[in-house]
Amino acid sequence: MKILGIDTSCDDTSVAVVEDGKRILSNVISSQFDLHKKYGGIVPELASRKHIESINYIIDQALAEAKVSFQDLSAIAVTNRPGLIGALLIGVSAAKSLAFCHNLPLIGINHVEGHVYANFMQHEELTFPHICLTVSGGHTLLLNVNRGWTYQVLGSTIDDAAGEAYDKIAQYLGLGFPGGRIIDDMAGEGNDKAIDFPRPLIDRDDYNFSFSGLKTSVRYFVEKAKKAGNLPPLEDVAASFQAAVVDVLVQKTIRSAQEYQVKSINLTGGVAANSRLRHDLRNAADENDIRVFYPPIELCTDNAAMIAGIAYQKYQQGQRDGLDLNASANSDLGQ
Ligand code: KG4
Ligand code: ZN
Repeated sequence: MKILGIDTSCDDTSVAVVEDGKRILSNVISSQFDLHKKYGGIVPELASRKHIESINYIIDQALAEAKVSFQDLSAIAVTNRPGLIGALLIGVSAAKSLAFCHNLPLIGINHVEGHVYANFMQHEELTFPHICLTVSGGHTLLLNVNRGWTYQVLGSTIDDAAGEAYDKIAQYLGLGFPGGRIIDDMAGEGNDKAIDFPRPLIDRDDYNFSFSGLKTSVRYFVEKAKKAGNLPPLEDVAASFQAAVVDVLVQKTIRSAQEYQVKSINLTGGVAANSRLRHDLRNAADENDIRVFYPPIELCTDNAAMIAGIAYQKYQQGQRDGLDLNASANSDLGQ
């Protein structure tokens, strides 16, 4: 059974065709990177306009690469929440038009569920229940994921998402956008013990995160060091910042797995591409006899294959949406 998935939740226009929830026949991602780069962050109105320009071409390309036509499809899936509202509406409108014209079922998908599902596309061994750490530019969520795709939200960020903190620090240091990958690369060349940045909320026994204060600490440190004329290499700043972020993410994730007696961790979202996070989480999990799964890089960041993938599971559960399907900026996960 082949499903066409669409994701326009943020700054990438992506369309994919996936067979039986696992076999990726195409996964086209049109990045808006060049458009937003000069602003140092995503400009929502520009993102929406670019999605409008691109969406029909990307749909055609995804069908062509998968070597299928609309007659071969069993459903149209689309991210309808959470995300930038204007951007989401482009994907939702396109999906509704296709479902109506080709008389196909329509399935609205929560983008975060797509990220959770990304690991299932590659790892047969990942089962329920498991702890899922979803870390991206828009969300930092710790979930207990159970059979039937039910979610218990254990914690989330109370301010910035982890990826957002990476992007803002990179912008502040003049390193470019998006900052996660750049800081990750620079950190590899730096001393992670050079600066002792705070590990926010690490000792609190809930599972919430906070990265805004850490961001401010980095700014204060750099400003002060610049004034004093003793700014260390930016590689050291990057490595020390990254160590602080990763320590908090790893410690809380392992502790939640211990508390809920879960033996598998599903690491996903754009920040799951981070080399130190992958490394440290795997080491900490090994020490606790827990398995860690993370997707290949192309399924970590936003993509429509994960949307078409989870839509297959939702289809099996009987989900069908009407043409009144709406977009929402907010997530309803765990409710
Ligand atoms: O999942 P994603 O593509 O979009 C959202 O749903 O937000 O995640 C993008 C985020 C950006 O903040 C980007 O800086 C971050 O993921 N990111 C990374 C790395 N690669 C991407 N953060 C840290 N290390 C990386 N290697
Ligand atoms: Zn995402």
